[in-house]
Amino acid sequence: MPSNLTVELTAPNGRKYTQPTGLFINNEWTPSSDGKTITSINPTTSSNEQEIASVHAASGDDVDRAVKAARKALKHPSWKNLPATDRGVLLNRLADLVEQNRETLATIETWDNGKPYADALNGDLTEVIGTLRYYAGFADKKFGQVIETTPDKFAYTVREPVGVCGQIIPWNFPLAMAAWKLGPALACGNTVVIKAAEQTPLSILFFANLIAEAGFPPGVVNVINGYGNIAGAALASHMDVDKIAFTGSTATAKQIMKMASVNLKNITLETGGKSPLIVFDDADLDQATEWAHIGIMSNQGQICTATSRILVQDGIYDKFLAAFRAQIKNISKIGDPFDENTFQGPQVTKAQYDRIMSYVDIGKQEGAKLECGGEPLTDMGDGKGYFIQPTVFTGVSENMRIYQEEVFGPFVVIQRFSTEEQAVDLANNTTYGLGSAVFTQNLVRAHRVAKNIEAGMVWINSSQDSDWRIPFGGVKQSGIGRELGEAGLEAYSNIKAIHVNMKSKL
Ligand code: NAI
Ligand code: MG
Repeated sequence: MPSNLTVELTAPNGRKYTQPTGLFINNEWTPSSDGKTITSINPTTSSNEQEIASVHAASGDDVDRAVKAARKALKHPSWKNLPATDRGVLLNRLADLVEQNRETLATIETWDNGKPYADALNGDLTEVIGTLRYYAGFADKKFGQVIETTPDKFAYTVREPVGVCGQIIPWNFPLAMAAWKLGPALACGNTVVIKAAEQTPLSILFFANLIAEAGFPPGVVNVINGYGNIAGAALASHMDVDKIAFTGSTATAKQIMKMASVNLKNITLETGGKSPLIVFDDADLDQATEWAHIGIMSNQGQICTATSRILVQDGIYDKFLAAFRAQIKNISKIGDPFDENTFQGPQVTKAQYDRIMSYVDIGKQEGAKLECGGEPLTDMGDGKGYFIQPTVFTGVSENMRIYQEEVFGPFVVIQRFSTEEQAVDLANNTTYGLGSAVFTQNLVRAHRVAKNIEAGMVWINSSQDSDWRIPFGGVKQSGIGRELGEAGLEAYSNIKAIHVNMKSKL
């Protein structure tokens, strides 16, 4: 690796490592063609924008180079003719290497993103390793069918890779979102150009080295950083990219869909949400409170499936509100993400911090009642990090922006309801349809509500469960297609039907 494309770093927890800073194309590190860079900052200490490192940002030409490498690799015998079983072996090797470098990867994730180290280590990295191993197992277990038609004819189907896949990932779970996309893409024999989010460019570069070390042929996975409107747009509108998979905001997804139309790309979109969590009178109060708290306050509220609208039935409303406030007080230890007792770190960037604070103002202007929070925390870190107190609004109505719009922070609205029908109507009164949760001890009601909610996922007496074995995705404006589970493979393979005629004359 050219030494001008690495930098030696020591993280706040004392871990020393070599940070790659280039573009990873063809299993090699190269600089960006126009010299543009992205400077990554540490959100814990960074109103003064404390820099961690600068990395190369891909230009349109660089994206083109990466796409060409991926196209070449797709046709190259070392990948095209590699037995499916061996693709699985490579994915398992990659998972092993991630496991061996688990602490370093978790350290980078926490430093760059601000999420608690324990979450990065035990949550994100477990997910990365588990997802890669899960899809490694699928590599040689996804095949076609033989379909008999008439005595003279039959057909068989084969599963083929979609081709060159562009993957655009967000900053809230950088490595995990990469694994969700790389696992199925590689199991199915595709090649990839993956672009990380400009807010968290570091961990994916360290991960890129592991891809080469695992033995993936050059060009199979190309890893770039770059700005959304430059590198992301170049990827989404590239004429030689067959598929684009995206996780991020609904607004950007709409642009990507338009750009992807230039050559009718296959698309998978996982976007925003305003997921409801419904608490019925007969719910187990402790259980509902704990999950409702985790459902919005974990990962600093920066989760697409965060249950950011809590709907509580009249009979339990006062008790729930008191318990929820107590839970915030008891659990939400806010501070240094490297401190093992920390539950909540800083928001990822100044832009996200400002956005959340602006929603506090909007909520007040709309006449909602601020129950708690709504203020920054200035006695954390060096006093300059992007910390926000857990914020709760009540007295909300359905037409309020804080009820309808994704805030993406430790920010929740709580509303009351009387009947089950009303709860379902309130839950469904949104343009989104990602997650949803229902708390009740009544079995029949639990399943009835689960059926009636417009969402890609429902949690009964829980929130935020996500598992690589289970399909993940949204309806309405929360996305198109599914990731994870066996369903995740559908997004990365085409079915070819081959008709066979055994009759010599018509
Ligand atoms: P974003 O959707 O703009 O960014 C996500 C990814 O898309 C990044 O890699 C970015 O570089 C890329 N991108 C941006 N513009 C692009 C374009 N024109 N063409 C191609 N790629 C492009 O989201 P952003 O600005 O980081 O956050 C804004 C809001 O989006 C958040 O407040 C939150 O509400 C939502 N969001 C949702 C996420 C989820 O998990 N569903 C993740 C991140 C953000
Ligand atoms: Mg950062």
